[in-house]
Amino acid sequence: MLDKLKKVKEALQNEIEAAATLKDAEQLKIKYLGRKGAINDLMKLIPTLPAEQRATFGQQINSFKIDITDIINEAFKKLSSESIPKVKKEIFDVTLPGKRPFIGKMHPVTRTIEDIKEVFARLGFDVAYGPEVELEYYNFEALNIPPDHPSRTDFDTFYIKNDILLRSQTSTVQIRIMENQKPPIRIIAPGRVYRPDTVDARHSFMFHQVEGLLVDEGVSFSDLKGVLNQFIKTYFGKDVQMRFRPSFFPFTEPSAEVDISCSICSGKGCSVCSYSGWVEILGAGMVNPNVFKSVHYDPEKYTGFAFGMGVERIAMLKHGIDDIRLFYENNIHFLSQF
Ligand code: DAH
Repeated sequence: MLDKLKKVKEALQNEIEAAATLKDAEQLKIKYLGRKGAINDLMKLIPTLPAEQRATFGQQINSFKIDITDIINEAFKKLSSESIPKVKKEIFDVTLPGKRPFIGKMHPVTRTIEDIKEVFARLGFDVAYGPEVELEYYNFEALNIPPDHPSRTDFDTFYIKNDILLRSQTSTVQIRIMENQKPPIRIIAPGRVYRPDTVDARHSFMFHQVEGLLVDEGVSFSDLKGVLNQFIKTYFGKDVQMRFRPSFFPFTEPSAEVDISCSICSGKGCSVCSYSGWVEILGAGMVNPNVFKSVHYDPEKYTGFAFGMGVERIAMLKHGIDDIRLFYENNIHFLSQF
């Protein structure tokens, strides 16, 4: 009988050594300890033995069962501890930092508008918006631009039909705001404008502007200069110089074009400033009394100033970009620099 037990134990030991997975060990457990397993088979032999041997054999089987259980448990332990590093290596290393998802960035035009808004917000300007599909009235008439003005031809403006067009300037928002609000008014209006220009390094049929308007009693040209000087120094840096050149716009009187010392070459002269040391950044002036009349403001009581700047131009000057088309091509290498 003892021989039988020994054989069973040997067989188990061989099989357990060959077991490679937890599943193998599970099967051995059933084979030996299960209801129809080897141990139970041995138990069944007890009644066939002579009465005086039964007790001893019973004890032997019991201690044998404990041995077998230990062997199998040992195998389980070994196999499951082996399986953990295996999983780690094969599937993933939980200690590695995760892959960061690319969350994107603001487009440089949007970034520039945000920066401009921030400077003017500190000077107390609200942000206003107007429609891109506009009436001729807001784009021209109310802004004192006469019917025979060259900018009103379809060489310079996209007409949709009759008196509906794509706005060619954000000055339209001046009228829309003044129609609905009483002075004091202090707004900037960013947005897209459209012109049938041939696309090249400096022109696009669509670009962005930021309009500014301040109306109150007793506003003077020096207020305009003060506000623009503050904007230019904050946005481009305190060493940048500003100069006003007399100009003409139908909606302002007097009007000026404003230049800054070239921020690329610090005024020494380069291709960006055509070797003049100065670059134009915006148009501005005191609101023409005729504009006030079209929104029923009393020109005797109120004065104001307005200005309009091209956003792409400002961004190009700030970052030394020499081709406006870069803003619209969705080239990720270009865009990711901002
Ligand atoms: N609207 C003008 C343009 O698109 C820019 C401009 C000039 C706006 C003078 C103004 C201004 O408000 O006062 O060229």
